[in-house]
Amino acid sequence: MMAHPGIKFAPSILAADFARLGDEVQAAEAAGADRIHVDVMDGHFVPNLSMGPAIAQAVKRACKLPIETHLMVTNADRFIEPFAKAGSDTLIVHVESDFHLDRTLREIRSLGCKVGVCINPATPVWTLEEVIPLVDLILVMTVNPGFGGQKYLQSTEGKIRSLRRLVDQRGGGIEIEVDGGIDHLTAPRAAVAGADVMVAGTSVFGAPGGAANGLRRLIDSVAGISPSA
Ligand code: DX5
Ligand code: ZN
Repeated sequence: MMAHPGIKFAPSILAADFARLGDEVQAAEAAGADRIHVDVMDGHFVPNLSMGPAIAQAVKRACKLPIETHLMVTNADRFIEPFAKAGSDTLIVHVESDFHLDRTLREIRSLGCKVGVCINPATPVWTLEEVIPLVDLILVMTVNPGFGGQKYLQSTEGKIRSLRRLVDQRGGGIEIEVDGGIDHLTAPRAAVAGADVMVAGTSVFGAPGGAANGLRRLIDSVAGISPSA
């Protein structure tokens, strides 16, 4: 079964086997991934450390897919340029971490990257009001960021629905992505609520049988669901 053409998949390498990163990314690419999600954590904005621009660059070289970099860091503006230079096609920054969000988003655009903005589970949709005209993608965290393998928070679905209405009223053109606890059971829920891009770490790279099996199961789970319905 094919997924609805409107739904895209962004496997998160946070759950990949780093010793085999190139193979992992290529397996996801061959199984139908649309882009690769790179999770950057600084030990301040979130209580964990993950990866820097060298990893984004290695992933970029290992596959032909676009790279989206999710910056879970304070002072995100300092990291925009290094990750753009490393080959990120999209840069996603958190509303909560940036005093000068407007400036950061414009800078991302000026570097030739797609512009993404992200909200944590406790952050309301209205915080995006002023920046919606500046973005290509809105990422709704469906867990509290910092770790892979956490439980999907159904309480975030109201925000996904509100954003879907908002984006559709504007005539579309902005992707609504979800991140955290996405698997074959929760992806259909998020898609029905209005998400059209699914980030998934554990359910892809941690799947029995490997990334290709995990991603296929995820793709099948949302077959026939239209995120704009
Ligand atoms: C969480 C990260 C996610 C993470 C998702 O802080 O932003 O992208 O990799 O992992 P899973 O799919 O395992 O919840
Ligand atoms: Zn992420």
